[in-house]
Amino acid sequence: MSRTIPASTQQQKLFSDTLARIATKVAQDEKAIGVDFPQLTAPDGSWVTLPASLSAGYSGKAWSHGNWFCGFWVGLLCASYLRTEDKRYLGWMRERMRLVAQRASDTNTHDIGFIFDSSAIPAYHVTGDSWYADIALQAADKLRARIVNTRSGSYLASWGPLSDDRARCSSAIDTMANLPLLYWASRYSGDASYQLAAEAHAQMTAKGFIRADKSTYHAVEYDTVTGERVRGYTFQGFADESAWSRGQGWAIYGYVISARETGKAEYLRLAEQLADYYLMRLGNRQIPPYDFDATGEDAKILDTAAAAVVASALIEMGRIHPDAAAGERWGLRGCEMLEGLCREAFASEDAHRGALKHSCYSRPHNEGVDSATMFGDFFFVEALSRVALPGGLRPEHCEEIA
Ligand code: GLY
Repeated sequence: MSRTIPASTQQQKLFSDTLARIATKVAQDEKAIGVDFPQLTAPDGSWVTLPASLSAGYSGKAWSHGNWFCGFWVGLLCASYLRTEDKRYLGWMRERMRLVAQRASDTNTHDIGFIFDSSAIPAYHVTGDSWYADIALQAADKLRARIVNTRSGSYLASWGPLSDDRARCSSAIDTMANLPLLYWASRYSGDASYQLAAEAHAQMTAKGFIRADKSTYHAVEYDTVTGERVRGYTFQGFADESAWSRGQGWAIYGYVISARETGKAEYLRLAEQLADYYLMRLGNRQIPPYDFDATGEDAKILDTAAAAVVASALIEMGRIHPDAAAGERWGLRGCEMLEGLCREAFASEDAHRGALKHSCYSRPHNEGVDSATMFGDFFFVEALSRVALPGGLRPEHCEEIA
């Protein structure tokens, strides 16, 4: 089951034009940024860049995510090629992928899913070149190897190498959006163990992260023997018990993809409940605060990346939903959010090099607050592509959901 996205003619044009404008920016930046990769925009709108090789790690007790942004740039090059048919983007994409490929053997982070699901998989889909698929499969092996088996379930550890006890017990809601790499690997290789690992993680996350009101924890520390939650806490949100809007987005996204890949209605139901919570807290806005429970001045800090992730997830949920009326509703709401992003947050000024202004990477660390973020730009482009270039950036398939 798969249906057309219910975007109006006006929205179709807006989304297609926005993709073209992003492609122009990407081509300009590609020539200016050297071998490093855009991460966040500085207050003057210029890109802060990082080398692809920068891995994650602990410095004392402090965790640093490293460069998990590099794959998204490859994804933007790929979408820009699709929108413009200008072959220069394909050349850039291949050169960039050579730099990103070294991270396919990285055992430090669950973000390996983000890095390769946004780069090698779209590049393989667009070019059919198995060089990209081989890299994606190598990365999927490393993600699958992060599985921690407990008496009550299994999860993919998030932060650090498994030889480190702090890493083994850590799980983040973001991992839900890393699962697509495993689902892809299962389908591509015919080895179901990738999907089994992804599903085990999705099921353990449903038990460990989702609160009674359907909001989510950002992070959970598990007892690595029993699998019980020792504590729920935050790393980038406002407070341990608060609702970090991007985390809610990662959860919605991950369960939509889990439903699409497995055909299991329980994942779709979860995605809908999580989305209902998000929409209830959002009210009549299109862009959420970085945390729905932030107070004082912090309540004014927006996160357009969260909106982009949710818009992409809702549009996909609308496409795959077995109930036509529900599918239409989700698709319409996703397109409305995307239109809001184009109209309220697109960086049309030349000095601002990102696509989406007003994202928030991490308020507690004061990093990338009110910036463009490379992941926000990627999920924005993914959502735009779902409508304006259907089936272009990613395969359009869906197991029958029952
Ligand atoms: N690490 C994923 C995020 O910042 O949302």
